[in-house]
Amino acid sequence: MLLQVNIPIPKDIPLPLPLPEWLLVILLVISFLLHIIFINLMVGGSLVTLWAQIKGLKNKDYDTFAHEVAKTITVNKSIAVVLGVAPLLSINTLYTIYFYSANALTGFAWIMIIPLVTIAFLLTYLHKYTWDSLEKNKQLHIGIIASAVAIFLFIPLIFLTNVNLMMFPEKWAEVQGFLSALMLPNVLPRYFEFIGACIAVTGIFIVWYNSRKNYPVEQIYSSFTRYELKKIGYSIGILGLSLQILFGLIVLFTLPSKGISYSVIAVMGGAGSFLALALWFSYQSLISEADKIDTHLKKIIFSVLAFMVFYGGSRQMYRHNSLYKHQELVAFHTAEFQKLSKEARENPTEEKPELQVDESLGEYAKGAAIFNQYCAACHKPKEKLVGPPVTEMSSIYANNVDGLKNWIKAPGKKRPDYPQMPGFPQLSEEELNELSKYILSVKN
Ligand code: HEC
Repeated sequence: MLLQVNIPIPKDIPLPLPLPEWLLVILLVISFLLHIIFINLMVGGSLVTLWAQIKGLKNKDYDTFAHEVAKTITVNKSIAVVLGVAPLLSINTLYTIYFYSANALTGFAWIMIIPLVTIAFLLTYLHKYTWDSLEKNKQLHIGIIASAVAIFLFIPLIFLTNVNLMMFPEKWAEVQGFLSALMLPNVLPRYFEFIGACIAVTGIFIVWYNSRKNYPVEQIYSSFTRYELKKIGYSIGILGLSLQILFGLIVLFTLPSKGISYSVIAVMGGAGSFLALALWFSYQSLISEADKIDTHLKKIIFSVLAFMVFYGGSRQMYRHNSLYKHQELVAFHTAEFQKLSKEARENPTEEKPELQVDESLGEYAKGAAIFNQYCAACHKPKEKLVGPPVTEMSSIYANNVDGLKNWIKAPGKKRPDYPQMPGFPQLSEEELNELSKYILSVKN
């Protein structure tokens, strides 16, 4: 119950999910996996391009290699954006209050994603289309992709900080914006694991890209052969996979205990062994002869995909473990609130505020007080306000008290240039008498 004291337990929106929860979870994990592969290629591709272009200052073939990779970045970026919609919608519907709370708490950084993404995308296009025109100004050209890389490296940090913060409602009261949320345990290890994944996936992509039969390596490069290009791809892959394994282990050992269970550790461990497998096969490929370099490629791709499914699954299990207790409290709180508001709607209680009676008005004191309470907002004694002045009422109803009382209870629509007057059916017969007596006493 300590939990309840320190942790905000908001009320949820009392709407049913549009799909069964398990289906949404599967949709989230699968669609996120597809999305992240292309994000990996976008971020990893721009990193590799930057590296190769710098090497290309000395060796022309590296510059060509950088150009070839650069051409794929914008395509992979577009696919990544389109594929990002489904996981974003799924996480929004499944974890509405958690996701929005984290968004709000890192508000400025979170909203910055939109301009940052826009700028980075434009930079990658600019970089791609100025390859020839900036041939004489390589520094500037490399500066463009370096800026895009800097932005691409920063954006995932915001995302990770957010999806991490949403799992820890107990921290919501403490964090003070993006930077403090960034310092929560696990964000940075997960970030570096992610960067490793970008490099690894891009390396394997480069191997595949250069093994396509219709890809004219001989015409594009002056000295690089397919074999050499694939070796570059495998080396990049090995670097990325090693980073992933290293930081993956740190992630595992620094996971905050609240979401950990044996099954999370088992599935994460399973994910890790697929990574080790991919690393082993990549290494075997790197040291093999030219004619054998492709034999392990399918196994590597399969291992990396299996890793992603397992890792993504374990993250979802961890998220579930961290949040289900809080979700139960929120559901309880929401149900409680729903019950109270239903009861209140079914048994409306009329609030009768205390009347401010001015006894000096003698027999009209009570009526004047009722008037001030209910009518004075729209009616003045001698001037028009929202409705006509009281003098007008008293001349219309001078000899018709019942007509006046009927109007007050259920007003008609009379003057075309006035709005409709609200009715006062809650006034008792006695109150209506007092009120009418007062109104009819106001004369010109
Ligand atoms: C929200 C504003 C509003 C409040 C509050 C309000 N009135 Fe009116 N009242 C009007 C308007 C507007 C008209 C003119 C309606 C029309 O002519 O269709 C009107 C008209 C009247 C008339 C003239 C009826 C007629 O036959 O011409 C009387 C009498 C009257 N109000 C009494 C009261 C009394 C008594 C109260 C308090 C219990 C009250 N009103 C509260 C807006 C208000």
